[in-house]
Amino acid sequence: MRMRQNHLGIGNSRNLAIAGFFACAAAAAMIAPLAHAEEAQPFRLCADPTNLPFSSDSPSQPGFYVEIGQALAQALGRPIAYDWYKSYFGKRTVRVTLLGKQCDAMIGLPRSEDFMGPAVIFSATFAKEGYALVAAKGQEIGGVDGLKGKRVAVQFASTPQNLLASRDDVQKVTVLSPEEGMQALDQGKADVAFIWGPVAGWLNKTSYNDRYQIQLTEGEGLSWDAAIGFAKTSTELRDRVDAVLPQLQRTIGELAVKYGLPTGQPVRFGTAGAMPAGATTGAGTGPGVVQVANVVATEGKGDASAPNTEAVGAGKEIFNGTCAHCHGPDAIQSERKIDLRLLRHRYGDDMRDTFWKTVHEGRPSKGMPAWKDVFTDEQFDSIYSFLLTVQAESSD
Ligand code: HEC
Repeated sequence: MRMRQNHLGIGNSRNLAIAGFFACAAAAAMIAPLAHAEEAQPFRLCADPTNLPFSSDSPSQPGFYVEIGQALAQALGRPIAYDWYKSYFGKRTVRVTLLGKQCDAMIGLPRSEDFMGPAVIFSATFAKEGYALVAAKGQEIGGVDGLKGKRVAVQFASTPQNLLASRDDVQKVTVLSPEEGMQALDQGKADVAFIWGPVAGWLNKTSYNDRYQIQLTEGEGLSWDAAIGFAKTSTELRDRVDAVLPQLQRTIGELAVKYGLPTGQPVRFGTAGAMPAGATTGAGTGPGVVQVANVVATEGKGDASAPNTEAVGAGKEIFNGTCAHCHGPDAIQSERKIDLRLLRHRYGDDMRDTFWKTVHEGRPSKGMPAWKDVFTDEQFDSIYSFLLTVQAESSD
């Protein structure tokens, strides 16, 4: 994501107050009931230093998650410490940082058993995040029916693109990122953009003078519940966080506004029949599952706030050029044994490892060639990102 600029001067007095609080060690003693030795341990948060509006290592513009972490630490009576790790999301990141005990919590993980449960446990939901409809202020959006006859910018290989694929009455303008979606609006190439909400909101605030209205959407794969993730051994900390979360809801709401995140009632999209076969992934347990696929698709690089569409596109191209020969174009293959849409179903959490080993070493005796001398790891990563977008419902 290319949004690393710092926008100075937005910090309000509350944040300064929080900063002041942490600057003053003596202040910790004010939280008398919790102030025994163990409580003074820092609350360690894993965060990506370059992922605004969610997190950044800039003290003047720390981001939505980081400020929630600061408020949480304050409520817990503990100082805060950060483990900065580029690329916040993705199971690999969670494994290395959170499960590697480099931090106590990660804010903003998708609250779903499918996301590394039972190794990862979650707090209550603190926000909803997802795709949003963006249009000039004053224009009536009117939910999915309001899109009729409009030019709608959609991100390549995203849930909105899948959702609108079968709608002949909507003219799709394909873009590769939320940034491009906002540009399409700005340049009059689209009437509405159906793109990743948090980034749209942030850009609206920082680059477009708040000219657009942003409406969060709801439905399968369109939005998910954001929560705080912990290692499964941290039930005690999780319970304490859950106990203080309700008193932070107001702060969280203010922070959402500060960072331009879409708020207000989401518009619901019908799911039945709207999604073409193969568009959904995960275990089909409701909203969030497909989004989790997008999150994981960015594993290792990029970030969850902008599904890494470039990698998906590149991976798809390699796949169709080389692998489709046996595994089917776009990985659509009716022979189960080589149907790569079943990887998640088959291997679950080990999906990535199995993929990695198989593409590197091949299974020569079974007719699967080794590709390690043909492609770079980055290319394998992109193929994997593409395959994540086609995983089937996990049912048998
Ligand atoms: C010449 C045919 C052929 C080509 C080309 C090919 N594969 Fe395969 N692949 C197979 C066969 C056959 C299997 C099943 C092996 C078995 O039965 O265990 C397989 C298995 C796999 C598996 C493991 C599937 C599972 O469920 O265990 C992955 C992952 C995979 N291939 C990825 C790829 C990728 C990525 C490419 C392109 C870079 C590719 N394959 C190109 C024939 C091919």
